[in-house]
Amino acid sequence: MDTVETDAAEMMGMPYVSIGSEEHNATGLLFVGDPERPLSGYLAGKERGGRYVQALEEKWQEAFSVKHAIACNSATSGLMAAAFAAGLRPGHRFLCPAMTMSATAAAPMMTGATPIFGDVSRDYYALRPEWATSDVKAVFLTHLFGIAFDESWWAGWCRQNNIPLIVDAAQSPFAKEARSDRYAGTIGDIGVFSLNVHKHFHCGEGGVCVTDSDDLAAKLRAFINHAEHVAENIGLNLRMPEVCAAIAYTQLRKAKMLVAQRVDQALSILEAIGEVPGIRAARPYRDSQPVHYIIPFQIEEGRGGFCRRLRAACVPAVEGYEHPLYRFPAFGRFGKPGDCPVAEDLHDNRLFYLENCAWTFSKTEIQSIGDAFKRAAEA
Ligand SMILES: Cc1ncc(COP(=O)(O)O)c(C=O)c1O
Repeated sequence: MDTVETDAAEMMGMPYVSIGSEEHNATGLLFVGDPERPLSGYLAGKERGGRYVQALEEKWQEAFSVKHAIACNSATSGLMAAAFAAGLRPGHRFLCPAMTMSATAAAPMMTGATPIFGDVSRDYYALRPEWATSDVKAVFLTHLFGIAFDESWWAGWCRQNNIPLIVDAAQSPFAKEARSDRYAGTIGDIGVFSLNVHKHFHCGEGGVCVTDSDDLAAKLRAFINHAEHVAENIGLNLRMPEVCAAIAYTQLRKAKMLVAQRVDQALSILEAIGEVPGIRAARPYRDSQPVHYIIPFQIEEGRGGFCRRLRAACVPAVEGYEHPLYRFPAFGRFGKPGDCPVAEDLHDNRLFYLENCAWTFSKTEIQSIGDAFKRAAEA
């Protein structure tokens, strides 16, 4: 019987902070040289943002090797713009994973289309190819936890079936897909990234959409503005303000280094834990390069007790992820218990994780995490 108290002590780790003096300076520079309109580059009818928004978009295009990058005020906004750009309408259905952050499904529902929730791969937490169905007008694929799944397979299938693929890469900036050697989010028709405060690099709140299609880029840009002059869908002003763009641009300049640091921390933790009976750490999908937004583990049985023992040793272990989305009131009418048994089993019984982008652990703490896993397994 497990008798360990939960949350008995302060958890290990310092909050992960990627913002420093360079970002502070960048926001100050906003006010130099353009006293007229430093906080937004928008003028009626003009769809490009201010100088930092434009600089961010150009640098993002270069960094991710994409033709177009369009900044917006969150990944949720970007997903909604993508859904409108992809032509979703009331009466349409779209496919998305049951296990993902709610915005992957909520944002496209704003078009009036409805979700079909597909089950996820037990090992890689992504939408399984068995769920591919031409009965939908768009597919939303999430690279969850920083694991780059098989975007090329989905892109090929979607192309064959003339269905747009929209990729939620919010948790996976600079993760590399194995098959194409391209970055996750850049292979489908539109990729969407998040710059919110708990990501590898961020600007408080923000998002970026990428695409190689001139047509989709024009539609995205229109929707992120107001679009009344140019498109059949009106837009909602989802623009990124200059203050956020100044921070995002500065973060992007060092983003590969920030991501590499998060990857290094995750690999050190995994090495310290080593082989623990009954516990399976996430593997990269084939030869892909994950970016370890969080570090997921699966346990054969006894998750509650194991995680309580970890937390009692000050390891911030979290049980489950999001419920399969159809369990939430907002999505309840689009699914029922048992629809996605793997997502249900992972959330209810097996999955737990360490939030790698929330904490910075010292070398000593990483060693203690490894020891705590071993002790928790022996108990
Ligand atoms: C997978 C996924 N998609 C979408 C989002 C929404 O991002 P944002 O907060 O930038 O709207 C998040 C946020 O954490 C996410 O993890």
